[in-house]
Amino acid sequence: MALLTILRYPDPRLHTVARPVQAVDERIRALVDDMLHTMYSADGVGLAATQVDVHERLIVMDTSDQHNRPVVLINPEIVRRSAEMAVNEEGCLSVPLIYDRVERHARVTVRALGRDGEAFDLDAEGLAAVCVQHEMDHLMGRVFVEYLSPLKRDRIRTKMIKKAREDQRK
Ligand code: NI
Repeated sequence: MALLTILRYPDPRLHTVARPVQAVDERIRALVDDMLHTMYSADGVGLAATQVDVHERLIVMDTSDQHNRPVVLINPEIVRRSAEMAVNEEGCLSVPLIYDRVERHARVTVRALGRDGEAFDLDAEGLAAVCVQHEMDHLMGRVFVEYLSPLKRDRIRTKMIKKAREDQRK
C-alpha cells in the first residue's frame, strides 16, 4: 500500500469538481486501500479523493472510537437531510492545525457504492454526519474554510502559504 500525498490548502487543485467513478474495479480498490492507509497514517477521520489529486467521487472515512471501522463511499449522494442543524468544530488534513466551527445538517442519509461495488444507504449522525458532509464538499471542490468569514479565510491562507514555505526549507 502506498502513502499518498495530501494536497494542502490553498492548492487550486482542491477546487476541482470530481467526476463519478465509472466502474468499481481493481484500480478503484487499490486507490481505496491507499487512501485508507494515508488517512489512518495522518490520524484523520475522513479523506476525499480530491485531496490526493484524484478527481473522482470517492470518500473513505472512519469515525469509530477504535479506528477499526472503515467506510468507503463511492459516488455518494445525500438522499435525506435533517431540518435540524448542528455546529461542530472541524479540521481537515488539507488545512493542518486549523480548527473552526461549521454549521451543517445534524443527520444525513447517504446512498453510495462500497468497496466491492455494492449499493447501500448509510444513516449518519454526530461526527459521521459532519464527516460525510465535509468530505462530499471536497468532491465539489469546496474546503471547509470557505464557510468561515473572508477575514479568517485570508488569515488561514496566509498561514498555510507560510507553513508550506517553511516545510520546503526543511
Ligand atoms: Ni477535509
